[in-house]
Amino acid sequence: MTTIGFLGGGNIAQAIIGGLIDNGTSPADIHCHDPAAGSQQKLASLGIQLCDSNDAVVQAADVVMLCVKPNVLPDLLGELTADCKHRLFVSVAAGVLIRTMSERLGPDTAIVRCMPNTPALVGTGMTALFASPAVSPAQRDIAEGILSAVGKALWVQDEAQLDAVTAVSGSGPAYFFRLMELMISAAINEGLDEATARELVLQTALGAARMASASQLSPGELREQVTSPGGTTQAALAEFDAADLEGIVTRAVQAARQRSVELSGH
Ligand SMILES: NC(=O)c1ccc[n+]([C@@H]2O[C@H](COP(=O)([O-])OP(=O)(O)OC[C@H]3O[C@@H](n4cnc5c(N)ncnc54)[C@H](OP(=O)(O)O)[C@@H]3O)[C@@H](O)[C@H]2O)c1
Repeated sequence: MTTIGFLGGGNIAQAIIGGLIDNGTSPADIHCHDPAAGSQQKLASLGIQLCDSNDAVVQAADVVMLCVKPNVLPDLLGELTADCKHRLFVSVAAGVLIRTMSERLGPDTAIVRCMPNTPALVGTGMTALFASPAVSPAQRDIAEGILSAVGKALWVQDEAQLDAVTAVSGSGPAYFFRLMELMISAAINEGLDEATARELVLQTALGAARMASASQLSPGELREQVTSPGGTTQAALAEFDAADLEGIVTRAVQAARQRSVELSGH
């Protein structure tokens, strides 16, 4: 039985805790410290163990989930007095490097850094993980298992790839939200009422994502399958090409990756 501790019990922590409990982890094996009254109320309703300090969580846990905002994390780690050596630390804090955490937790401490995304809040997240050299294969399985409670999880082999992950799946939900927003406006412009436009767009996005996930074909092949020469889809896609949608998306993802590098200060 693995005991899991959470430092910070806000949105992402509550999503992961909810997923763990749904997947069979006993609330008695989950410990958390969060000073915010609002978070405490929600955490208490999940039936987990609320601790009055971060040190108390670390002492109680085999795995410590770091779920505070990135600007808070380095000081929080520096203030821990509990023995951190034989524990696995898993950080979800965007842009906080393994190096920064190792400096505070000790060079031999097992640390996994990961980047989840907001659909984790509804159980369909995508998380990429990176492990420091001190992380054992068994600890990798534990970290992957925890993040899999809120969606899919995969490993990257190089920490710098987390910047590209941030630009694709981290920020990615907003790109799709933007496209949905624009399609809803375009549908209204073509004479549909807002409720109808919204339902058409959201169900189409969900259907396309499900179809692409379930199919052996690439998204490009699926697109070709539904694009008849001289038809309606081709007319729309020709407008995308004329506006260089490919260049726009390439530059947008590059800009996000570059910003991620700047924010993490490496
Ligand atoms: N939400 C997502 O989908 C998502 C996706 C990817 C990555 N992340 C990462 O997840 C982390 C948390 O994000 P979030 O959205 O869950 O933020 P959040 O809802 O603000 O949760 C953070 C919680 O930590 C508490 N906290 C502050 N200082 C603390 C301390 N010293 N000890 C213990 N708890 C403390 C905060 O309390 P106060 O409100 O009182 O400060 C807050 O309740 C961030 O680093 C973010 O980069 C989140």
